[in-house]
Amino acid sequence: GRRSDLAGKHVVITAGGTREPLDPVRFLGNRSSGKQGVALAQAALARGARVTLISANLEVAAPASADVRLVGTALELQAAVTDAAAGADAVIMAAAVADYRPAAVRADKIKKDDTGDTLLLELIRNPDILAGLAAAGQPGQVLIGFAAETEPDADRLLALGRTKMARKGCDFLVLNRVGWTEGFASDRNEITVLDRSGDIVCEASGTKMSVAGRILDLIA
Ligand code: C5P
Repeated sequence: GRRSDLAGKHVVITAGGTREPLDPVRFLGNRSSGKQGVALAQAALARGARVTLISANLEVAAPASADVRLVGTALELQAAVTDAAAGADAVIMAAAVADYRPAAVRADKIKKDDTGDTLLLELIRNPDILAGLAAAGQPGQVLIGFAAETEPDADRLLALGRTKMARKGCDFLVLNRVGWTEGFASDRNEITVLDRSGDIVCEASGTKMSVAGRILDLIA
């Protein structure tokens, strides 16, 4: 049954949000709390899986029985998830990964006396970790990506998801709306899951724990 349908399986989950340092005391970050990723880890453990949780600045406690790897930046997350994904049965990329990082990290604190009224930051693209995992294509491994979008229109949101699915090449894409109050910090979530052909395979709304259960059903 569902209670142990992931027994013997190794599930790797990334959760939280990366922080890209600017100087020793500042970073560029995002508002991901890590709640959905942690709920996925808890649900997978409850169904018998061995879970590696790649934790990027979580605001909530990680489950004690997960193998937790702490990361800060996108590049650290990439190294940790690539290592953990070798031989894993499923990889779930729930973390909000920074698309860009500062081109240079200052050795000393940036001073407003040196920079004046305008400060221009030069940023460079981070690698797309999910697309990289998909391209590496481990046979039999289920790869799940997330797409957090602010698009209010349901049809346009779906279209964005389908385009992203084609670009990422994962097995399933979990589409959810985020904003000032929706998605990130909330205890609830509303998702639409697309398969490789862009077809809707699951629509769910509820607590992040119940949504986690629906996502794991797709893996099981
Ligand atoms: O392209 P976008 O950031 O919207 O895609 C979100 C999905 O891609 C998430 O699953 C996220 O973990 C992953 N991602 C990634 N590497 C990046 C940016 C996002 O793996 N540089």
